[in-house]
Amino acid sequence: MERGRVIMDRNADAPWSQFDPEVYVDNNYRTPLEADLLIVRLMRDYFGRCFTGGVPESVRGVDVGAGANLYPALSMLPWCEKVLLLEYAQPNVEYLEKQVSPGGYDTAWDAFWEVLRESPAYRAVEPKNLVSEIVRVERGNLFDLEHGHRRWGVGTMFFVADSMSECPDEFHRGVRCFMNALSAGAPFAAAFMKESVGYRVGEHDYPAYRVNEDRVRESLEPFTGELEIHDLHHMVRPGHEGMILALGRRNSEVAVP
Ligand SMILES: C[S@@+](CC[C@H](N)C(=O)[O-])C[C@H]1O[C@@H](n2cnc3c(N)ncnc32)[C@H](O)[C@@H]1O
Repeated sequence: MERGRVIMDRNADAPWSQFDPEVYVDNNYRTPLEADLLIVRLMRDYFGRCFTGGVPESVRGVDVGAGANLYPALSMLPWCEKVLLLEYAQPNVEYLEKQVSPGGYDTAWDAFWEVLRESPAYRAVEPKNLVSEIVRVERGNLFDLEHGHRRWGVGTMFFVADSMSECPDEFHRGVRCFMNALSAGAPFAAAFMKESVGYRVGEHDYPAYRVNEDRVRESLEPFTGELEIHDLHHMVRPGHEGMILALGRRNSEVAVP
């Protein structure tokens, strides 16, 4: 090895095929954390404000790197004709397919819906039926969205660009790919672990790129017309310093590849 050269884990090196969604849900969502409930509240109110004055016809939503988390999709439900859950890890794809099957999603997600339904737009929706009716799962790679061939009218990306690689270039590419998947004016929500040094799911370790509020802002600003960043100082587990939630709208600039 070259002296002084740091080897960083790239996205393709991580054991995604070994990702255990049930353990991940146990670790993160089965007992809802204050931080996640606060994020859901902020995202609900932001989307509500964006769609005030009526929902445009045929809005399609996307959750990129959906993994074993259904609350971003639930937060888009009242506003969408269709929602796509794009996910790379096969075990997570299977988990999500089960969640959107006619059997209905797991009770773990009810607590998040309870927060959403405090708002009238969400109360007007019957989530379990609607999820199986309009939400679809696709196995895919976030990096394939780079050239903007596919675009959605509302989007979410939760703990993905920062939680899939240690490399700065892959973090920026991840953010750019998500932004290039949004049409001009599309509202979005993106969440990041603050200063994460990586995470363990069951027997496997997954990489992270350390971000703070400034880094998140710098990465998103070129693509956004409207941007608010919430720095949530809630610790979820050792190895990071909280969560960052970015809410905004895609601008109409042509994104730089
Ligand atoms: C920390 S998990 C976040 C999962 C979920 N969005 C959440 O909020 O809990 C990171 C997710 O990114 C997915 N992922 C990793 N590399 C990806 C890629 N190249 N394209 C799409 N998803 C990817 C992983 O499979 C995993 O589901």
